[in-house]
Amino acid sequence: MIQKCLFPVAGYGTRFLPATKSMPKEMLPIVNKPLVQYGVEEAVAAGLTKIGFVTGRGKRAIADHFDVSFELEHQIAGTDKENYLTGIRTLIDTVNFSFTRQNKMLGLGHAILSGETLIGDEPFAVVLADDLCIVLDEEGDGVLSQMVKLYKQFRCSIVAIEEVPKQDSPKYGIIAGSMIREGLYNITDMVEKPKPEEAPTNLAIIGRYILTPDIFDLIRQTPPGKNGEIQITDALLKQAQNGCVLAYQFKGRRFDCGSVPGFIEATNFCYQEIFCKQQS
Ligand code: UTP
Repeated sequence: MIQKCLFPVAGYGTRFLPATKSMPKEMLPIVNKPLVQYGVEEAVAAGLTKIGFVTGRGKRAIADHFDVSFELEHQIAGTDKENYLTGIRTLIDTVNFSFTRQNKMLGLGHAILSGETLIGDEPFAVVLADDLCIVLDEEGDGVLSQMVKLYKQFRCSIVAIEEVPKQDSPKYGIIAGSMIREGLYNITDMVEKPKPEEAPTNLAIIGRYILTPDIFDLIRQTPPGKNGEIQITDALLKQAQNGCVLAYQFKGRRFDCGSVPGFIEATNFCYQEIFCKQQS
């Protein structure tokens, strides 16, 4: 079954400058935990314990975060601060992390193709860590867990979608599809960042995917599209036309932490609903 999850983290994070000038966007903390750790925890909860990162220049902090810091651990050993590291230590002890680099920022499709060497010939998940997906413990499974269950049933690529206001369509890939059942569509069309009047629906792709490995050849055949980037949506549309790609309206909330308003909203939510409750 699915064991691997790819995190493309090579982007420049320009919307967060100057914070991201020398620090990866994915290391920005939501309360006291970096965005990328939330994503890795979601993957591990879905049973994906082989995590691959597609990194770029200036992203060393991510590799350091998922490695043991002996000096720090020695320093706080035996104090009550030791507890702060329990979560990340568990990940380091149980998860296999590997890294490759995207040498040119040619878009998300290109970033995923750069990860082929870490994935090989098997289905895999993709997480864009700046889309923070939160499902509280009492609400059920995380978003990737929901998608892995669907994959077991349908065995084809799946993208997570949510409804967005039409005026926001230029920020997303927008799908059209035939409904299989409530919240599940067989994709018939996909447009990257359309103008509101050209968007076929208000169903936007967010940063969670399950992809079958034939996607790599399809990306290789994909010429640069919108903004001169190699778009994963263009490769997925070909995959949908050749066979089947599903769009799944997940249960839970998604915060666009690649934008300042989404980041603040996520911070407030996680502080109130997770951090404060853990402290009490
Ligand atoms: P974004 O477009 O949201 O990230 O890409 P960005 O380019 O870093 O952000 P801005 O727009 O400049 O603020 C979504 C995800 O895809 C990765 C990014 O790191 C991010 O996690 N990505 C994007 C790559 O890894 N490589 C690329 O060439 C493009």
